Amino acid sequence: MSLLSGRTALVTGGTGGMGRVIVTELARAGAHVVATSRDHERGQALRRRIAGEIGADRVEILTGDLAARADLHRLAAGFTARHDSLHLLVNNAGAHYRERLLTADGVEAHLAVNHLAGFTLTHLLENHLLAAGTARVVNVVSATMSDARSVPLFGRPQPVSLDLSGVTDVRDLNPADGYVPFAAYARAKLLATICGYAFAERWQDAGVTVNAVHPGIVSTGIVDDLVPAVLAPFRSLIHRRLLTPEQGAGAALRLATDPGMEGVTGRYYMRDKETRSPEASYDPDTRAAAWKLSLSWADDR
Ligand SMILES: NC(=O)c1ccc[n+]([C@@H]2O[C@H](COP(=O)([O-])OP(=O)(O)OC[C@H]3O[C@@H](n4cnc5c(N)ncnc54)[C@H](OP(=O)(O)O)[C@@H]3O)[C@@H](O)[C@H]2O)c1
Repeated sequence: MSLLSGRTALVTGGTGGMGRVIVTELARAGAHVVATSRDHERGQALRRRIAGEIGADRVEILTGDLAARADLHRLAAGFTARHDSLHLLVNNAGAHYRERLLTADGVEAHLAVNHLAGFTLTHLLENHLLAAGTARVVNVVSATMSDARSVPLFGRPQPVSLDLSGVTDVRDLNPADGYVPFAAYARAKLLATICGYAFAERWQDAGVTVNAVHPGIVSTGIVDDLVPAVLAPFRSLIHRRLLTPEQGAGAALRLATDPGMEGVTGRYYMRDKETRSPEASYDPDTRAAAWKLSLSWADDR
């Protein structure tokens, strides 16, 4: 019997560089994999391609925009209508934008896609994760939260700033005043990490583990958005020096499937190495504030 047969997984951003590999390898290992895509046709093409590659039709597509709260609720409802439990949730989708964009909900877009999407799905699928007996949540975050300098060549790493005192609405985070895209992305990843720790605490004795991983610097679409404009002419050279999507996805797949990770929760890994996330992520007041803000947004309809 395959490692994951009888298990159900949900992977966001299945059509992306690493998402495609994660979906393929989980399905190859026997899981029934529900992958999100924001485009129906690209989702179905992914499903057909993986079926051809592994010789089994084990991928199901749910279509929606992870930046829209209504779609997150619709995606979660679509999942719970068809499945009784969820053994593995990989919050993989992410995005970096060159400009400040607001979603239809009025939330800064980095925050919506890189943090609130994963938070909301994890929250809405709580009962299904608990129903699995043992389940894992893997949040794909980024080491940019520990060093938010866009060209980190000289000086010391600068963890991204996060001050939640007095913030009562997620729409006030990553404001226009002093906006820097790379820092906005890093702050969203930091919030995803912090709330992952809060979920891990909440489910400490409930059989659901939650861990975060930085996959390395990987040759995927997001890198083109992250590379500073001055380095744009060197794009193809840069890509050649990066990890392949297969190598990058390996780090999340390890957290998702390695038997050695059974029961391990509330940790952050730089690829395969456990490490500390920014100090702010261990501050109880920051954690409580991040949780409260994110939860009230996720539940507000
Ligand atoms: N590549 C790196 O060096 C690196 C480093 C650190 C962390 N990461 C993180 O790794 C994860 C995977 O990224 P990747 O490198 O594989 O990049 P990618 O190829 O750009 O994939 C990102 C995925 O997220 C999806 N996505 C983005 N915005 C969405 C939205 N509004 N609604 C639905 N789906 C949306 C994309 O959908 P479409 O296919 O429709 O575009 C795509 O499937 C991300 O969380 C990223 O932040 C990457």
